Amino acid sequence: MKSYSIALIPGDGIGEGVTEAAWQVLQTVAEGSGFALQGQRFPWSCAYYKETGRMMPEDAIETLRGFDAILLGAVGWPAEVPDSVSLHGLLLPIRKAFVQYANIRPHRLLPGVEGPLKAAGFDILCIRENTEGEYSGAGGRVHQGTSDEVAVETSIFTRKGVERILRFGFEQARLRKRKLASVTKSNAQKYSMVFWDEVTARLAPEYPDVQVTSYHIDAMAARMVMAPDSLDVVVASNLFGDILTDLGAAIQGGLGFAASANINPDRSAPSMFEPVHGSAPDIAHLGIANPIAAIWSGAMMLGHLGEHGAAAKVMAAIEAATARGIGTRPGQDRTETITTAVLAALA
Ligand code: IPM
Ligand code: MN
Repeated sequence: MKSYSIALIPGDGIGEGVTEAAWQVLQTVAEGSGFALQGQRFPWSCAYYKETGRMMPEDAIETLRGFDAILLGAVGWPAEVPDSVSLHGLLLPIRKAFVQYANIRPHRLLPGVEGPLKAAGFDILCIRENTEGEYSGAGGRVHQGTSDEVAVETSIFTRKGVERILRFGFEQARLRKRKLASVTKSNAQKYSMVFWDEVTARLAPEYPDVQVTSYHIDAMAARMVMAPDSLDVVVASNLFGDILTDLGAAIQGGLGFAASANINPDRSAPSMFEPVHGSAPDIAHLGIANPIAAIWSGAMMLGHLGEHGAAAKVMAAIEAATARGIGTRPGQDRTETITTAVLAALA
């Protein structure tokens, strides 16, 4: 029997509950689909940092490298560890070390979920560059604490980085409605963003079957609200994609429905699957976090592993649950109730 090794990093806050929920669903669908998932849990988190002074051990990347995929809950507990420390100690290094350069986030309404918009038929796939750009971590501060203080943070856009994320976008568009929106701010940022636009224009002739449009980020934000149905695949830089995907989460009914995949398309290292929502300290340990984003991320993991039938079964089970009104409104149902409804739909 085929077997996949999965590293489970529940992390902080609601990450624990939603990862357990997703894992239960994934185990169940694996059993019914003729393959096995071997999970190994890692306690890396802010609590781990408080104990050890590190978010994860020094050899964590080497440990994770041996797995077929990583399922992550959430990282961050700002009351105990500054976000700038916890995220640069766990989530961001994994994305970079494993060249998970494509962060994929689907935005559509699940059946039974009411979003804040009148439009209901949208189906957007946001693809966010995930390893460089504005989140490269290049910069510094001098004269700290004085009136002469200076902080510099430089965006880094490489030809390799921009080209590969755009190619990935073009290829995803080919699997969908063949429409690609490339997002920049080249009217104001005249180096990096003009460069991005140029790469988009240079690659476009290689994908004559894909209709490409370049948008500015501000106009795209408005479009996602006013005309989300007009969009298919949206490709953006790390920062712009980060912001647009929270907007995407909002129009799909909230962060409880926002799934994501950090993909290494070359498969030279494991990819990582995580809900977009974060650790949500205000509702942590209350048992009311919506596990749908985590379960959906798990379905994306199965798809990446090549288990497309099982991935489709999980999506159908999520949709069967939400169509019955389970988990469709924030705070309405407990994590366990929603998980049970998804499991029941699988059976
Ligand atoms: C996300 C999150 C992270 C990011 C933060 C926590 C660093 O907001 O996955 O969207 O921006 O990458
Ligand atoms: Mn974000």
